[in-house]
Amino acid sequence: MHRVPGPEPRVGYRASQKVLHWLTVLAVAAQLAVGYNLDLDDGCDPAGEDRSGGDTSDAEEERLDRLEDACEARADDHDLLGGGFDLAEVHLLLGLAVLALGVVRPLWRRVAGLPPWSEHLSPARRRLATRTERALMTLLVVVPLTGLVLVGTGDDAWVPLHVGAHVAFFVALAAHLSSNLRPAILRRMF
Ligand code: HEM
Ligand code: HEM
Repeated sequence: MHRVPGPEPRVGYRASQKVLHWLTVLAVAAQLAVGYNLDLDDGCDPAGEDRSGGDTSDAEEERLDRLEDACEARADDHDLLGGGFDLAEVHLLLGLAVLALGVVRPLWRRVAGLPPWSEHLSPARRRLATRTERALMTLLVVVPLTGLVLVGTGDDAWVPLHVGAHVAFFVALAAHLSSNLRPAILRRMF
């Protein structure tokens, strides 16, 4: 379906396609910024506990337990039901938005069609662009899904999958930018 003209001959991308494209870029950039700033440690592991070597006195252990309980109670104040908004919730909501964009974009691409290739892209570049655009659109769905699996199962064994998926996204994005980051091509998306 790539580059098959829509119902009437097209010269450029539709405004709706440009808006969807840049909205996606914004959402993914924000999501990466939030992802790398997630506080993965709730800070509820009082210092000293791990280094005690297991021979902490009962009184000391009780004191550490109380500290941990108080800390977890404070952390709970920030969860979804507590009415607050923390970075993990922002990460979840943005992830769902990216997932929605990942579903809508290819569907809209089918309906709206694509403009003819830029004459500045060689046949090899066109083949690369076809593959990288497909990879990017697939990863827009796969990356949030791996995040949902991670949160849904609550099992850290899924972390490498989520990290791997977004690293694969970086690879596809690098290939995308290698073709598109020049004025003659960039202009087509504005
Ligand atoms: C476009 C979508 C997403 C992107 C680009 C993204 C990206 C990231 C990044 C960069 C990190 C930090 C990884 C690291 O420290 O090396 C991260 C962590 C995490 N993400 Fe996402 N994420 C996305 C969607 C989601 C969704 C939908 C969820 C589900 C709620 C989710 C759950 C998590 C969790 C739980 C972590 C912490 C993992 C850990 O314990 O190390 N992510 N994500
Ligand atoms: C989240 C990251 C990105 C994704 C998922 C993405 C995805 C896509 C897709 C699927 C297309 C094909 C047209 C369409 O279906 O709408 C496209 C085209 C394009 N993208 Fe991106 N893109 C991203 C980031 C960027 C960035 C950062 C730039 C430039 C700074 C860029 C520049 C372009 C240009 C210029 C085109 C038009 C290429 C042409 O057909 O001549 N993209 N992008």
